[in-house]
Amino acid sequence: MRPDDSAPTPAPVLLADYAPPPYLIDTVRLTFELEPQATRVTAALAMRRNPAALVEAPQDLRFDGRSLKLIAASLDGRPLPAANLRIDEESLSVPAALVPQDAPFLWECVTEIAPVDNLALEGLYMSKGMYCTQCEAQGFRKITYFLDRPDVMAAYEVRIEADKSSCPALLSNGDPLARGDLPEGRHFAEWRDPHRKPSYLFALVAGNLIAHEDRFTTASGKPVDLRIYVRPGDENRCAYAMDSLKRAMRWDEEAYGCEYDLGLFMIVAVDDFNMGAMENKGLNIFNSKYVLASPETATDATYVNIESIVAHEYFHNWTGDRVTCRDWFQLTLKEGLTVFRDQCFTQDQRSRAAHRIADVIALRGRQFAEDAGPLAHPPRPRSYLEINNFYTATVYEKGAEIVGMLHRLLGPELYRKATDLYLSRHDGEAATLEQFLACFEEVSGRDLQQFFRWWTQAGTPRLKLSEAYDPEARRYALTVAQQVPPTPGEPKKEPLHVPLAVGLLGANGAPLEIGGEGEAQTKILELTAPEQVFVFEEIAEKPTLSFLRDFSAPVIVEREVEDSERAFLLTHDPDPFNRWEAGRDFARSTLRGLIREIQAGGDPTGGEDYARALGATLADSRLEPAYKALLLATPPAEEMASEAAQRGETADPEAIHAAKTRLARLLARRLEPELRAAYAEFGAPEPYSPDAASAGRRALKNAALGYLAALDGDFAARQFDSAANMTDEAAALSALVAAGAPQAEAALARFHERWRKDPQLLDDWFLRQALAPRADLVERMEALTRHPDFEWRTPNRFRALIGGFMANHWRFHAADGSGYRFAAHWIGRMDLLNPQISARIAKGFETWQRYDETRQAQARAAMNDMLRAERKPSKNLYEILSKILE
Ligand code: TRP
Ligand code: ZN
Repeated sequence: MRPDDSAPTPAPVLLADYAPPPYLIDTVRLTFELEPQATRVTAALAMRRNPAALVEAPQDLRFDGRSLKLIAASLDGRPLPAANLRIDEESLSVPAALVPQDAPFLWECVTEIAPVDNLALEGLYMSKGMYCTQCEAQGFRKITYFLDRPDVMAAYEVRIEADKSSCPALLSNGDPLARGDLPEGRHFAEWRDPHRKPSYLFALVAGNLIAHEDRFTTASGKPVDLRIYVRPGDENRCAYAMDSLKRAMRWDEEAYGCEYDLGLFMIVAVDDFNMGAMENKGLNIFNSKYVLASPETATDATYVNIESIVAHEYFHNWTGDRVTCRDWFQLTLKEGLTVFRDQCFTQDQRSRAAHRIADVIALRGRQFAEDAGPLAHPPRPRSYLEINNFYTATVYEKGAEIVGMLHRLLGPELYRKATDLYLSRHDGEAATLEQFLACFEEVSGRDLQQFFRWWTQAGTPRLKLSEAYDPEARRYALTVAQQVPPTPGEPKKEPLHVPLAVGLLGANGAPLEIGGEGEAQTKILELTAPEQVFVFEEIAEKPTLSFLRDFSAPVIVEREVEDSERAFLLTHDPDPFNRWEAGRDFARSTLRGLIREIQAGGDPTGGEDYARALGATLADSRLEPAYKALLLATPPAEEMASEAAQRGETADPEAIHAAKTRLARLLARRLEPELRAAYAEFGAPEPYSPDAASAGRRALKNAALGYLAALDGDFAARQFDSAANMTDEAAALSALVAAGAPQAEAALARFHERWRKDPQLLDDWFLRQALAPRADLVERMEALTRHPDFEWRTPNRFRALIGGFMANHWRFHAADGSGYRFAAHWIGRMDLLNPQISARIAKGFETWQRYDETRQAQARAAMNDMLRAERKPSKNLYEILSKILE
């Protein structure tokens, strides 16, 4: 049977077509009679005409609805026979003539759905015996007929009836009203959410769950019950998520003046989930992997993820729930802002520099690739076929950078005034980016219209620099030119308003006085023209430029500098981001040199200078271990392929792989004493604590281990055998697998034996193997797909093995096309069940044009195969692949 997501070449939805809804919904009453095969949903909607509707004439009452079996419908208590309704795949319409125009009216309907058959995990579905919902963006229409759009906001009352023994917990948004027993072993619960909300924030959960409980008192003294619901047995793995939640609640009060607004806040962990987590009002639903943690089963990276995702979803309570989006084109209004907020939270809780660097690595790795390829779109797109395809790195991460630039341009005080104004002015409303920016203009008195283009124009700006120093005039002039390359559908680009944080260094490495901030003398320049000259007076010596400090704007700086200048900044730049950046740039230029040597044939010789410079920073005792660990990580293959494309060259996966392998071995040999010293210093067993300082020590130790494993497999095997926490155990396993060490097979077998009952760790076990640098990997993958634990319908498992493989640059881009065919086969299979997942994973093909013609032909064939009509590709997958192929 085909799911309902396969309409042929559907028409796009356009931002320009936005019109207010003709009708509004004031209150919603829902009753769920839960049964796996046949759940009855009774809806009563108190409705009226929208006084702000643009059209005067009476409009048909058109509800969204998909895959619903209509049992009955009525208006103001009068049954509506089916003959009076128009029902198609996507909607139900009541003719205008039947709809009261001058008075409020009551729409009632009964529908039936089958949650157990819902494998798309959108709407009401089941995961391991429990019921749960996912309504963002348009899942509510799979529950009942509704005006399923974010500018229709209503107060909800919900009654849930279910079997008492299999579903002791019955949850929905807001506050509990009542609960009690029903005949035949059933029971019910009633909930009321007093805050008006759009349908995408509705949630229901029912199942055998137990709560890990705590309390929080808000700044104004209101008590809040906090509950994290998990399956029995997992309740002792919730402490970190709970602790993160309380810290996030406090932080939001202090940083944004945002207090929680209900007496109860719940998080539910679910194993089958399409994304990370969801901010449903008062009832956040999470992918279990972002809730559950214990030292034995979770790595430091998992702890960081839990902390930031718990915070992200909690922060949505104000930026998303209280103030929501008028339409889905404004998605970045809630997501970009909320990501910026969670990034600041993480930086405040942990190391500012290390997390800024991590965020930029992620932005460059995912968003820059998106912006440079066929799927490039502005943070506020102008059209979509399937909105679920627009939960992208551009909407989220670039969106966060844009809010960060406003913070930088206005400074912290005005920024806070602007968000205060935004949250109070639009509280309870569905807002737009224009309304958001207007608050920043009002509090600052500045014209930010040019800045608005960051949201409406796709593509990463390229900056070109030229410097001139006049010793006589003691004047340094920096010329900056900006240019945005064309992107699909946007041939012409306008100049952007770009904040540039810069500093100048003297020959002794000390910052020069330029009237900037703090000891580092960081100054914010504002680039607005296509080309602009910035003049610095009273500069006594020829300075070294430290440009784009803290990565003050999401741009690409096209600038060739000597390795000696990189080494100088790597030693002296007081801006920790730029110091790391100099090292990264040095690593890239070293890899470029090695790639060229390898392509020319013969034995590569490069890398010695980089090894020396890196050795010196490792010896610098003033640097935090976490920061040194970041310096030790050389650029991933993906980054090298992307920069080759930026330079107009063909990316060569074989040469990139060989160069990376060669550099890793060279660094291991040249830095062996320093690496062993770091390992010895930070490798001593200590009781596990997830705090940033301890995690930093483990990060450095395990970065050292990664290099040393290539020289000595026994070294990593010993750590694997004796590890007292999952961070050390997983790092040792990765090191063995990545080094192709002979000890890897035994370690993988042990890991599986130890952890096969733990879904998150099984995911990791599959992921490690998918990332292995093995020539015969595709054969190995085929075998893994037949493994009894490969429960491929579960998104986490599918992402681990298939998504993991596609992130294995060398093997996914194998010259014979075997990697492309393998991935396409599985994406095609998944598309029949869960189009959100298939379409998301298919984005791994977006970079295909970076490679040679043979690879391009193979990739094209694999994509065309997924699009074959008889496969009935979903609208989601169709939109992604047809754009990639265009
Ligand atoms: N709004 C969610 C978040 O914070 C993400 C989300 C969108 C989502 N669609 C989803 C989560 C579907 C799960 C399933 O960021
Ligand atoms: Zn979000």
